[in-house]
Amino acid sequence: MRQVLVLNGPNLGRLGSREPDVYGSASFEELARECREAGRELDMHVEVRQTDDEAELIGWVHEAIDGRLPIVLNPAAFTHYSYALRDALAMRTAPLVEVHLSNPAAREAFRHTSVVAAVADGTIAGFGLMSYRLALHAIAGMTGGAGQAGGAGQAGGAGRTGAGAQG
Ligand code: DQA
Repeated sequence: MRQVLVLNGPNLGRLGSREPDVYGSASFEELARECREAGRELDMHVEVRQTDDEAELIGWVHEAIDGRLPIVLNPAAFTHYSYALRDALAMRTAPLVEVHLSNPAAREAFRHTSVVAAVADGTIAGFGLMSYRLALHAIAGMTGGAGQAGGAGQAGGAGRTGAGAQG
């Protein structure tokens, strides 16, 4: 069964009590459950992790690179300034989907920049927990997993389309 890592950056462990008007009322544990459930439906084993520590997050990215594992990543605030995370992700060996619960483009100016977006296959933002569900569907589609209509995925590849600069 395909393994997928769902990685989450700083302050996302506080979901539920953290600015619920922005991020919703679901807790991080509920988010994790939702992801695992979506994984079961797509015949993927989904492991969900969260850290407030940049070095730990980069270590998990290295683990995914070595294991050729697809990643769904919510880098949280690291999205906007972590060149170290971006450089780690640039080495990826499997699909990468950036996700956000909120829609950063509709928020403060500093959130309009993602230093990660250019090395991801794509970004899904603004749909709350559903952002993660949609991202897992995208991973299933790119890896030729269940839930994909037509079987036109990029099995075995790095998940890149080659259609654009990777920053
Ligand atoms: C976020 C958006 C980021 O701007 C913010 O720093 C977060 C959460 C989101 O999921 O909407 O921590 O990534």
